Amino acid sequence: EKGGYEHFMLKEIHEQPEALRQTLRGKIRDGKVDLGDLGIKPSRIGKIYIVACGTAYHAGVVGKLVIEKLARIPVETDIASEFRYRDILWQSDDLMIVISQSGETADTLAALREAKRQGIKVLAVTNVVGSSVAREADKVIYTHAGPEIAVASTKAYSTQLLIMYLLALYLAQERKTLTTEEIEIITSELMKIDEKVEEVLKQEEKIKKLAEKYQKVESTFFLGRSFDYAVAMEGALKLKEISYIHAEAYAAGELKHGPLALISEGVPVLALITQDNLVEKSMSNIKEVKARGAVVVAICKSNLQEACQECDEQILLPEVQSLLTPILSVVPLQIFAYYMAVFKGADVDKPRNLAKSVTVE
Ligand code: F6R
Repeated sequence: EKGGYEHFMLKEIHEQPEALRQTLRGKIRDGKVDLGDLGIKPSRIGKIYIVACGTAYHAGVVGKLVIEKLARIPVETDIASEFRYRDILWQSDDLMIVISQSGETADTLAALREAKRQGIKVLAVTNVVGSSVAREADKVIYTHAGPEIAVASTKAYSTQLLIMYLLALYLAQERKTLTTEEIEIITSELMKIDEKVEEVLKQEEKIKKLAEKYQKVESTFFLGRSFDYAVAMEGALKLKEISYIHAEAYAAGELKHGPLALISEGVPVLALITQDNLVEKSMSNIKEVKARGAVVVAICKSNLQEACQECDEQILLPEVQSLLTPILSVVPLQIFAYYMAVFKGADVDKPRNLAKSVTVE
């Protein structure tokens, strides 16, 4: 049932290209994105609230960046257990998007119910047909990731990201905030993203060696800006939940406002460097941590390799538009977390204290 892999998590990491293909199927035709009726006219949406927990929340952070960038709609992304207790200034033209692999997460479901009580349309992004979230939302877009068994989410996350891109493009297309040509450029890249993920997966051995080298560390940091920060949060969550190693994600520019004090000799810093317009800024943060003895592992888009020379290790990603890099850059972090856990002898698929679906509040 593990298809020859030692753990479900590794199997599911490798299933990502296929999961992306399945999720994309039928949604792009002749360069246009078709998501059907959203239950609210794209031109009428005033504001979007994206609400989710854990990994799904991290997909929502990317969703915010990409919807704002492409479709020019204000978006707030919030953790469901926080959102529920806020006093939201609801407007009738708001749209709520809930993201949940299982479709059963108690806090996410409660946020959905609150929106419905307010008469707000809810769009659900879920992996499970017939789940509570799928039944109660006005409209469902499924991630076709297939069953995810490992507690640590991998292929559900990458397919959630894909839906965020498709949704942003669809809204941009309907609101005419992008031209047909601009949309086509991104959709054609999305149609090849599965092959690029395959390329990243080929670096498994190299990443495994890094994990072997750093298996004894007590603490790690993940840095990035913009889309890279969103992925840094996901990489840190993966590492802590399965390897029990302390991992913290920081927006690179926030370092000097406190956390830099924690950087000491030999601390691994995983730096995501994939945003063409932010390389210089990120490199200046890397110089700061290196000056304090950190070892820097760069997850770097291949055209930016030159700028990343100073990093101690480099994992190169195939060329892709900056805004699409999360689908690629998360993969080395998943593999890194996986092997860190394996080297520690941890129960990779069933980490201590955690359940696959959190149905308590
Ligand atoms: C982390 C992980 C969790 C879930 C979170 C939400 O790897 O799997 O953080 O993402 O519990 O679960 P769903 O998506 O089922 O609502």
